[in-house]
Amino acid sequence: MGVRVIDWEGDWRGHALLLDQTLLPLECVELSVSDVQSMHDCIRRLAVRGAPAIGVAAGFGVCLSLRTLSTENVSQALVRVEQACALLARSRPTAVNLFWALERMLQHARAIAPACENAVRFAQRLLEEARAIQREDAAACQRMGELGAELLRDGMTVLTHCNAGALATAGVGTALAPIYVAKSQGKHVRVYADETRPLLQGARLTAWELQTQGIEVTLITDNMAGRVMFEGRIDAVIVGADRIARHGDVCNKIGTYSVATLAAAHGIPFYVVAPLSTFDARIPDGSHIHIEERQPEEITEGFGRRTAPPGVRTYNPAFDVTPARLVRAIVTEAGVIHTPDEARVSALLRSAGRLG
Ligand code: MRU
Repeated sequence: MGVRVIDWEGDWRGHALLLDQTLLPLECVELSVSDVQSMHDCIRRLAVRGAPAIGVAAGFGVCLSLRTLSTENVSQALVRVEQACALLARSRPTAVNLFWALERMLQHARAIAPACENAVRFAQRLLEEARAIQREDAAACQRMGELGAELLRDGMTVLTHCNAGALATAGVGTALAPIYVAKSQGKHVRVYADETRPLLQGARLTAWELQTQGIEVTLITDNMAGRVMFEGRIDAVIVGADRIARHGDVCNKIGTYSVATLAAAHGIPFYVVAPLSTFDARIPDGSHIHIEERQPEEITEGFGRRTAPPGVRTYNPAFDVTPARLVRAIVTEAGVIHTPDEARVSALLRSAGRLG
């Protein structure tokens, strides 16, 4: 995309780099993040957002706890890692990629600690693990793009919700990856982007990202989705996910469930594109997902201008759950799960070594 979304600069004493997504599309500002608390705050305030990117940020966040090591031994460094994981786990509750990445870093830290000759080597090896998470996410995005592009024909128009593109990952994105791959194959695919109230990830991020990538994009407000489907403008819906349960229920940005319901009412296929790191094999269905609730100001005075009377009661869940029965297919880097249910999701996770 010509901009770095998330990266690490330097050796184990270096720092993380994030594109501040709260400022897009007006400004492209790269943030240098050098301590765990700052990474926690960046995740919390959505400077870095999107489930896979949050996972990569968590990996780098753990490494930030070790960059100031001086005379500590490996056991003391391990305590820092444990404390960093505990803090980062409190940043946002819904995207499972955060917890997946923290668990991976913590397990790795505990496994390598006894064999590390000193704390510097320990820090170096943890940075290698965080970089592996970043690399694997980029590869997964590319593969999901290739598999998802097979669902897209030349001339199709797709509706998407929120931002599940390059800005949400370490690679070319999840939901937008098939569109990019289809373009590289010479297919012309148009996109309708839902604005995505209240934080406008569709307007601020998806519209900007697709424009910069030369994809024909039309921005609509969320409440127009039904109308554009009724008018026959949409051939498929493609979205990303923040957590997918064993039965195939999909948690994603608030409003996704409405779009899926509308798609079903109009006979339009509803596809989800998500890496294996977004599956939560521990939970059977969507009712077990902790839905983040955010501040009332996002609704009453979004982007600094008050649009509701002072003191009005609000409810601001940031995500919702689309039941598996509304999902035509889930595209992962390990294959496509058609008409997902527990048997099919478990079979794919098992074949990919993600389920015992
Ligand atoms: O609150 P956000 O912007 O982090 O929500 C992001 C989404 O809901 C995305 O659709 C999801 O994380 C998939 S990103 C590839």
